[in-house]
Amino acid sequence: SPSDPGLVERARAAKERLGDKVFVLGHHYQRDEVIQFADVTGDSFKLAKDAAARPEAEYIVFCGVHFMAESADILTGDEQKVVLPDLAAGCSMADMATAEQVAECWDALTEAGIAERVVPVSYMNSSADIKAFTGKHGGTICTSSNAKRALEWAFEQGEQVLFLPDQHLGRNTAVRDMGMSLEDCVVYNPHKPNGGLTAEQLRNAKMILWRGHCSVHGRFSLESVEDVRARIPGVNVLVHPECKHEVVAAADYVGSTEHIIKTLEAAPAGSKWAIGTELNLVRRLANRFAAEDKEIVFLDKTVCFCSTMNRIDLPHLVWTLESLADGKLVNRIEVDRETEQFAKLALERMLALP
Ligand code: 13P
Ligand code: SF4
Repeated sequence: SPSDPGLVERARAAKERLGDKVFVLGHHYQRDEVIQFADVTGDSFKLAKDAAARPEAEYIVFCGVHFMAESADILTGDEQKVVLPDLAAGCSMADMATAEQVAECWDALTEAGIAERVVPVSYMNSSADIKAFTGKHGGTICTSSNAKRALEWAFEQGEQVLFLPDQHLGRNTAVRDMGMSLEDCVVYNPHKPNGGLTAEQLRNAKMILWRGHCSVHGRFSLESVEDVRARIPGVNVLVHPECKHEVVAAADYVGSTEHIIKTLEAAPAGSKWAIGTELNLVRRLANRFAAEDKEIVFLDKTVCFCSTMNRIDLPHLVWTLESLADGKLVNRIEVDRETEQFAKLALERMLALP
């Protein structure tokens, strides 16, 4: 069980045996029982930056999901081994764009005569293959904390953007932060020929949004915002930009997980907050800030945990750390060299954004 003192002690002992040989990274959506063992916690941008912070560590144990572990492998040297405590910790959004589908999309853009002026911008929440495609075609990666800067950069390189795979982050950033209109955006559906779009629609769009979404954030609705405002007068609504456009438009504040935490740290005592992001993080923040008289509630009680983030639990972490301490490398995530080369190009463009 999560509070099993035996497991807590075993994790602590194995980590101590490993000493400087292990570096544990934890995304903010991880369970409390896991996050207590993280050397560094962060949003996906901070974790990508910090992955290379301990070059002397032989093992990087990534408590998060598969695409984050891949990115850590891409951004660190061959001698550092990235380990994901449960190989089934994927991301349904990342799975919504495959290399074959994206290649077909690029063919459609080529046929429409626009491939030369389209710059791909891919959300961190994508496979290494998609990142490599992005790097190969002159594009950049972005996260929810730098999407605006990534789009500004992309529109300096070309006239149109293909945004993969989260349509909501793409639309929210374009409309809310860049002053574009909803009509400037079209949605490319990978399950339809030509994405379900005419060549003219493709040519006229500023933003070509891939039809992907987060299954957790996609469940917050405009009604959840209206309900919480009726229930808690004076509440501040703070949501993640993976939420639908209508939710983001109705919210008071929008930002990445790191931004959500910073906003609550700076909030005055007595303030009330409804948070639209993953439940592990919201619960942790509610407990942490209760002592400072900040009331924090989950935006919609019918939304649940990210099931794949939750796969990394204390038993998996104990197994991983004990295996590594016994000299047995388990669950290594290793991106092949060619993919890595182009994916790295795209990630480094993100890290170099002003
Ligand atoms: P951030 O941590 O970058 O806000 O991303 C949220 C997320 O969905 C990660 O899977
Ligand atoms: Fe993927 Fe959404 Fe889970 Fe993040 S919260 S890992 S985007 S499914």
